[in-house]
Amino acid sequence: SAENGLNGWLRYASLPDNLRHRSASVPPMIVALNTTETSPVYTAGKELQAGIKGILGRSVDISHDFPSSHNSESPCILVGTAAAYNAKYGSANLTSFTTDGFWLSVKGNNVLILGQNERGALYGAFEYLSMVAQGNFSDVNLLSNPDAPVRWVNQWDNLDGSIERGYAGPSIFFSNGAAVDDLTRVSQYARLLSSIRINAVIVNNVNANASFLTPANINGLGRIADAMRPYGVRLGISLNFASPQTLGGMNTFDPLDPTVDAWWDNKTDLLYQRIPDMAGYLVKANSEGQPGPLTYNRTLADGANMFARALKRHGNRDGNGGIVMFRAFVYNNHINETDWKADRANAAVDFFKHLDGQFEDNVVVQIKYGPIDFQVREPTSPLFANLFNTSTAIELQITQEYLGQQAHVVYLPPLWKTVLDFDLRVDSKPSLVRDIVSGQRFSRGLGGYAGVVNVGTNTTWLGSHMAMSNLYAYGRLAWDPALDPQKMLEEWTRLTFGFDRSVMDAVTKISMASWPAYENYTGNLGIQTLNDPLTHFGPNPAAQDNNGWGQWTRADRQGIGMDRTVSNGTGFAGQYPPEVAKVYENIDSTPDDLLLWFHHVNYTYHLRGSGETVIQHFYNAHYAGAETAQTFATQWESLRGKMDDERFNDILFKLKFQAGHSIVWRDAITGFYHNLSGIPDSTGRVGHH
Ligand code: GCU
Repeated sequence: SAENGLNGWLRYASLPDNLRHRSASVPPMIVALNTTETSPVYTAGKELQAGIKGILGRSVDISHDFPSSHNSESPCILVGTAAAYNAKYGSANLTSFTTDGFWLSVKGNNVLILGQNERGALYGAFEYLSMVAQGNFSDVNLLSNPDAPVRWVNQWDNLDGSIERGYAGPSIFFSNGAAVDDLTRVSQYARLLSSIRINAVIVNNVNANASFLTPANINGLGRIADAMRPYGVRLGISLNFASPQTLGGMNTFDPLDPTVDAWWDNKTDLLYQRIPDMAGYLVKANSEGQPGPLTYNRTLADGANMFARALKRHGNRDGNGGIVMFRAFVYNNHINETDWKADRANAAVDFFKHLDGQFEDNVVVQIKYGPIDFQVREPTSPLFANLFNTSTAIELQITQEYLGQQAHVVYLPPLWKTVLDFDLRVDSKPSLVRDIVSGQRFSRGLGGYAGVVNVGTNTTWLGSHMAMSNLYAYGRLAWDPALDPQKMLEEWTRLTFGFDRSVMDAVTKISMASWPAYENYTGNLGIQTLNDPLTHFGPNPAAQDNNGWGQWTRADRQGIGMDRTVSNGTGFAGQYPPEVAKVYENIDSTPDDLLLWFHHVNYTYHLRGSGETVIQHFYNAHYAGAETAQTFATQWESLRGKMDDERFNDILFKLKFQAGHSIVWRDAITGFYHNLSGIPDSTGRVGHH
């Protein structure tokens, strides 16, 4: 039934008998020390009760009163904040907690779950349930703190219910110009998000509509926030910079005009009246036609700071007030390819570097992982190495805009890790991206993660059961970016599909092979994804060049690639700190998988790794990638009967599509470059169908 999809990894499926032998240690009683019935600790009690019922078939009562003692004579699962616990027993050590952190102690038949705040307590409850669901009843003593405070998701939902780059049906939040009446799906989404420790959702499209700020829609947003609050998930919204003019009827939206300032203060006040714990704003300004401060010759920092000051007037319960997530995705989309030095990749550093230190302390600059746009392979955005007095967050995409739109299985954490683990060598010191966005490297108080998710009303949330591993792993990585992609996948697989060894093997093999395969049959050697430029789905190599968008390949009869060197190209390589710049400046030290990102070469250029020519590598990689994709459906076939038919068939259908579409990709790309270069495939495959 649809429940299999809706519950995602929170199915609480009955635990097989052979894994139950230690389950007697699960206590017969839950004590939830919540303040109100809408608080996350109350939710934690309910969730523990439902989970134990589902997993072990056992009914457990919930009490909201402190037991007189908390020891093995009166075993229970006690969940609450550390402060509440200490007020009664005075014994927990609180010093090592950070915001949203939790402590989980399982000792025989006593379970203690304490949060630094109520949200943390709920996270601890989910952690315990995850253990039980996986048949793990061992004693633990686990202190877990988040690596970064900002662990948000972005939804690109519009008021009319459509979703930009969403592949799972219309919005769960909005339809017909207003918040939907029945917010059940919103609560269910918040439940999934809190279990992976996501603490806020931006609910509307970055290409934002000013009408979100009408009184009726502010109330609608308030209802959405109410639905998510029991899960400790806060609401934030995207703003349209020109709202004072388009909605407010003013003749300006100049951020330094005091009447504009006052307009935003007033809107912010109205929002906080209805949503006292609002997370903040997300702003896409002066990008792809969106209005912004540059219209008035004001800086992007002037623009961001106007919102930051409005938000600062409202502290909130948690002590973390509203934040402005200000996007670094600012570039000119009308650049001219006849200029050898024009380069969209330079834009973020060009626009933001000189503003370092000028942002209010509640501004976080939100930076896409690569300099262009969510491509299958990009170098790390150099902006992470150019802001030292500004808080930053990394923007990742769970929605697979360029990566198969959920019609292809592409497990993304290995791609994300190439960026998060990348060492930018600022001042020749270790400078991993994950330590920069967490705030550790440059001692920033804020920072973290923004993931564009775009779930819809489809009962699988993302349009594909398999794609949910990406959402699961996104949340886990935002909490702890050192986690291993395969381990997260295995956890997700057990929680989603159960314990069958062959299911685990197939999901693991398919998922771990999927990103390299997709890169192979789409765009290799750092040339980007070669998608159709409008839909971003399917191949269109011919359309990459001679447009203003700047996702160019500079492919002609002789050669291919963007020369981004300082010595002879766009200068992009020079935006990195010297140690990294040197690697990319020199073609002999540039890794093969970014060769064409940084250098323009002849098709006959020999790769360092394989010794193959660039063109032969294209041919080989496309055939290899498509061949790997063919195996996915076959591997899946062998799982018939090992899970419910509905999920089995749904996934099989998609994998068969992927098998076919990978051949479409292979033939389109190899055929195109074969025609252009006139160089035959040494094995005779290309051009002979
Ligand atoms: C991409 C995407 C757009 C989106 C933009 C953004 O270009 O195709 O739909 O609006 O990114 O992130 O702002």
